[in-house]
Amino acid sequence: MWLNGKLPMSPPMRHMLLFAILILAALALLSPAPPPPVADPLAALGWQLLADRRLAVNNDLACLDCHRPERGYTDGKPTATADGINTPTLYGLAERTTFGWFTPEVRSLEAFVLRPLDNPREMGPRAETTLARLRADPALRRAYAVAFPGQGQSVTWERTVQAMAAAIRSIPSPQRGPLSPAALRGRAIFAEVGCGGCHQGATLSSERYLNTGMSRDLRRNGGKARVPSLIGLTQTAPYFRDGSAATLEDVVAAYQRGGLYPGPGVNPAISPFLLTDAEQRDLVAFLASR
Ligand code: HEC
Ligand code: HEC
Repeated sequence: MWLNGKLPMSPPMRHMLLFAILILAALALLSPAPPPPVADPLAALGWQLLADRRLAVNNDLACLDCHRPERGYTDGKPTATADGINTPTLYGLAERTTFGWFTPEVRSLEAFVLRPLDNPREMGPRAETTLARLRADPALRRAYAVAFPGQGQSVTWERTVQAMAAAIRSIPSPQRGPLSPAALRGRAIFAEVGCGGCHQGATLSSERYLNTGMSRDLRRNGGKARVPSLIGLTQTAPYFRDGSAATLEDVVAAYQRGGLYPGPGVNPAISPFLLTDAEQRDLVAFLASR
């Protein structure tokens, strides 16, 4: 239609339409997180559930209230709950094999998703009354039937968790352009001072649990925290498992000091080093580019 010039529109209308398309394209570029893909019915159900406060026993909290898409799937707070832990991003989880700051024993995303549903300081405990509330919604029952074809409409915790994990795995990482000259210099510094020993691979984690002496509270998991990914850092402040670093500059300063809570348990790869102001800015530019 467009190509053979037979579009049934007057030229001014056509211009207005083109203008509207351009505005929409510009808006799409500006939005922090692209809209969730809904082609896969399992992930589509999962997205609906991640946003649904009826999943909390008190009917008042959804996963996305803490993992907010516009904040890189975090809540922007130092710590989320009385557990005193920073909310990590949900970026990059399809490629990860460890989940949670202190839980090396959790081996799958599905297993981790049960934790906020069970935790009374988050959305739990899990209850039959919660499932009954979901089952009372005919549209939701149909969505379960579409997501699990040929298996009926039944609403179970197992299916709920499978759908939410599928949605989380479908989260696209933020778009990255080519590295700026500053970020390229920062990448070299990142390697030189040994960051890459722990932050490596596609997500810049290494799936290990280590004590870096960066955060207070050494009681959990013997002080060893999971090496976080470094994806979307510009959206996910504050940093560290206790949320003690407000900015990436603070993170770099903490590493330069060799950690804030030194002690015998701290990994030997963490030790003080000196960077010029310009080098610090370059390292921050690299961290902000991922
Ligand atoms: C009250 C805020 C809050 C709510 C609600 C919440 N989370 Fe979280 N989420 C957190 C915190 C804090 C952590 C870190 C917990 C830990 O490491 O043990 C976390 C960790 C995670 C992780 C691990 C990420 C990683 O990097 O390994 C996943 C996955 C996750 N949450 C999914 C969910 C899902 C799914 C729901 C809803 C069923 C949910 N969360 C509800 C705060 C929240
Ligand atoms: C010995 C392994 C190790 C080395 C070396 C290391 N890191 Fe980390 N990194 C970790 C661990 C573990 C954490 C989580 C610590 C915590 O939260 O208490 C972390 C956390 C971070 C965070 C916070 C991410 C978030 O989402 O909260 C950033 C940013 C970071 N590291 C960057 C760096 C940079 C830059 C270097 C080099 C100067 C570096 N790391 C060197 C293991 C390491």
